[in-house]
Amino acid sequence: MESAYIMPDKAHYGLLKGKKGIIFGPLDESSIGWQIALHAYNEGAEIAISNVATALRFGNIDALSKACGNAPLIVCDASRDEDVNKAFLELKEQIGSVDFIVHSIGMSQNIRKQMPYEELNYEWFMRTLDVSGISLHRIVSSALKNDALNDGASVLALSYIASQRNYWTYSDMGDAKSLLESIVRSYGPRLAKRGIRINTISQSPTYTKAGSGIPGFEQMHEYSDLMSPLGNASAEECAEYSVTLLSDLTRKVTMQNLFHDGGYSSMGATIPMIRLAHEVLHDNDLAERVSLDDYKPSR
Ligand SMILES: NC(=O)c1ccc[n+]([C@@H]2O[C@H](COP(=O)([O-])OP(=O)(O)OC[C@H]3O[C@@H](n4cnc5c(N)ncnc54)[C@H](O)[C@@H]3O)[C@@H](O)[C@H]2O)c1
Repeated sequence: MESAYIMPDKAHYGLLKGKKGIIFGPLDESSIGWQIALHAYNEGAEIAISNVATALRFGNIDALSKACGNAPLIVCDASRDEDVNKAFLELKEQIGSVDFIVHSIGMSQNIRKQMPYEELNYEWFMRTLDVSGISLHRIVSSALKNDALNDGASVLALSYIASQRNYWTYSDMGDAKSLLESIVRSYGPRLAKRGIRINTISQSPTYTKAGSGIPGFEQMHEYSDLMSPLGNASAEECAEYSVTLLSDLTRKVTMQNLFHDGGYSSMGATIPMIRLAHEVLHDNDLAERVSLDDYKPSR
């Protein structure tokens, strides 16, 4: 898709002029991290891009690097202490210490293999928590140890509402996102001494490699769209919002989980969803087709 390599044709405001940053997790043009990299560069930032070796070898990340002013590509498995440490040493050598870090990393082997939540493989569970949650702690810790984070910097990670509400098919990723959001709160006051802020964006379901690996993702995406007054937010829109959080315009925003979801998280019911539920409850064929009896509350 050629268009993905071209800078977004949108007004830019120089919001990140003079800032440097690193973005962990762009994989392909659908990735939220990919869009954040493009938008951050477009807003004037000098950036570095990081991912695991296989992603850098087999993806098109070179193209992203080119589109972002030959941004350095840094190999790093965010679940390995020595990799993260080396990444920050390399970052300092390549562009110096940074004003923002974006954590756009997530992975669950239990979801990939469709393990029922009651039968999670615990090795994979630990890996989900490590890669998708603890890696944020490791990244911030290593950035501090290596003196790679400037005063007044912004740290941003991507979350999902399943951290706080039950989403059956999101399985152990819900637990990882709870951990991620908790790490943000724990770090907040510790980083604040240097004016550094740390937040998560809780994004709508988005068609990406990680997102569409979740069983029934298409239905989730449709449902979420019907429940959101402004509709689902895209990866590009998420990147636009992210830029504000990396900029000086949000200097006093910290320790927050910020919903970027078209209003979804504040809705109780929407007219189309109520009508759909009513139709199915009064149509035996349809009720059978969607296995309604399996999910009806016991009376
Ligand atoms: N897609 C959605 O519906 C959605 C919704 C809300 C939040 N998010 C979150 O957005 C973030 C980005 O995901 P995405 O949807 O853009 O999918 P994506 O698949 O494009 O990105 C996930 C990235 O994580 C990287 N990764 C996996 N293991 C790693 C490791 N050990 N070390 C370093 N990187 C590793 C992958 O290589 C990939 O680049 C994730 O935190 C995800 O949970 C996604």
